[in-house]
Amino acid sequence: MQFRMSSEKGLLLALALWTFCPIGGPGGLNGREPAGPSCQTARFYPIIQVPVKEKNNSNKKRMKRTARSGFFGSIARRIEGFLPFKARNGFNRALYQYLARRVGEHEDLLFWNFGFAGPGSNGGKLPLADSDEKHRYCIQLYDHVASAVDLRGQDVLEVGCGCGGGSSFIMKRHLPRSFTALDQAKEAIEFCNRRYSIPGLSFSCGKAESLPFEKDAFDVVINVESSHGYGSLDHFLKEVQRVLRLNGYFLFTDFRHKDQIDELRGHLESSGFQFLKEEIITPHVLQAMELDHERKMSLLNRKAPRLLFNSLKYWWGTKDSKRYELFSSGEEIYFSYVLQKRNHSGGLSS
Ligand SMILES: C[S@@+](CC[C@H](N)C(=O)[O-])C[C@H]1O[C@@H](n2cnc3c(N)ncnc32)[C@H](O)[C@@H]1O
Repeated sequence: MQFRMSSEKGLLLALALWTFCPIGGPGGLNGREPAGPSCQTARFYPIIQVPVKEKNNSNKKRMKRTARSGFFGSIARRIEGFLPFKARNGFNRALYQYLARRVGEHEDLLFWNFGFAGPGSNGGKLPLADSDEKHRYCIQLYDHVASAVDLRGQDVLEVGCGCGGGSSFIMKRHLPRSFTALDQAKEAIEFCNRRYSIPGLSFSCGKAESLPFEKDAFDVVINVESSHGYGSLDHFLKEVQRVLRLNGYFLFTDFRHKDQIDELRGHLESSGFQFLKEEIITPHVLQAMELDHERKMSLLNRKAPRLLFNSLKYWWGTKDSKRYELFSSGEEIYFSYVLQKRNHSGGLSS
């Protein structure tokens, strides 16, 4: 990353890094088997159980303390309570805009997820072009999500596509009829439009909570490590219901604090989705963080200012970061859901 920035930009970036992280909430993850009819095309992986600890409100406070360490962490902690969501979302968007401006010079920034390590959908090593090797783990997360259903000939929407590396991989490897990718970061979408020219692949700027598409427009909606920053998960889920065709699939992966998982499941259920598969993939994500550590550190060591070093390691999930610690202790959980729209009742305007 070319961190030649004014102190104002630096502050903005630092605050963004610390303000977009989700913390707290009641509940726990149970990793239970999917309910409802199974889908013909879905391939199910074994569910990895993570022990659930007792609900505890003091956890919430402790998490806020431990997750945000360091100078900027403590500043963010102090002002966080006063910031309305809009302001936090603004910081979040500014961060991704900033990163999108840097991708041209730093190919390492093409993906913004923590990655997935493990065998590919065919049980072996995912074959990749040499130019994609450096993004192996981030691509593998996309492949894990996209392999849950057969995307051939389908109309697919990705919400929160970032710089489009995952969208273009899915388009080329999983052969949907069309792939529409959306992100709220305008500069990320501009980057995608300059970089990719693949028939059937298109990019739009827009918000997850009000998708700029007709109802019943897609067979599959994909969402990779993006939902933790949304203003309203309920609005997003209703929008997914609205734009999905009947029996369409919602392939959803992200992370949450362990106390937020039950609440998340509740939102998914009340939005009218049936669980075809749910899985805790934290061990795969942790392994990816370990295997991708050197690549990330090489860029950070060269370009990151000392003051932001720990914040950036946390954001990127290096193996010595607080983020890695939170996943390995089970405080934060990375989940992957295969969901299906079974009726027309859940959408905002269906
Ligand atoms: C951690 S990045 C992941 C990007 C991409 N999925 C990847 O794996 O490389 C989260 C992405 O979600 C986008 N995002 C966050 N909130 C959003 C919203 N409300 N609407 C649309 N996109 C959003 C961000 O701009 C960012 O590109």
